[in-house]
Amino acid sequence: MSAHSVTAEETPNVETAHPVVRFLQGANLLGQTAYVAGNTLVEHAEDAGVKIPTNCTSGTCGTCMVTLLYGEVPLPEILPPGLDDYLVEECARLACIGIPNGDVDVDIRPPL
Ligand code: FES
Repeated sequence: MSAHSVTAEETPNVETAHPVVRFLQGANLLGQTAYVAGNTLVEHAEDAGVKIPTNCTSGTCGTCMVTLLYGEVPLPEILPPGLDDYLVEECARLACIGIPNGDVDVDIRPPL
């Protein structure tokens, strides 16, 4: 008889940075997906199975306006026609052109 002991392999200390893009409506989590660098919020929403209405898809109409709850979605230097300063102050972003920087939480509704 030979004793054979199985040792549990230590879980490698992998990077814990797996950014996630989450879509909420109020307190309800509608869906989430892995962050893909360079993808817009609309593209992330599609991956998450969440529908964000769009029209122009170029930052002009404001149809895709969402509210940034957490994280970074940088704004262009010159605001697109679909966004105004007072909306930006309320954390509005345009999902069709908004490209997140890592983890973000977004409410799919506009701020106002
Ligand atoms: S769909 Fe028109 S601003 Fe995004």
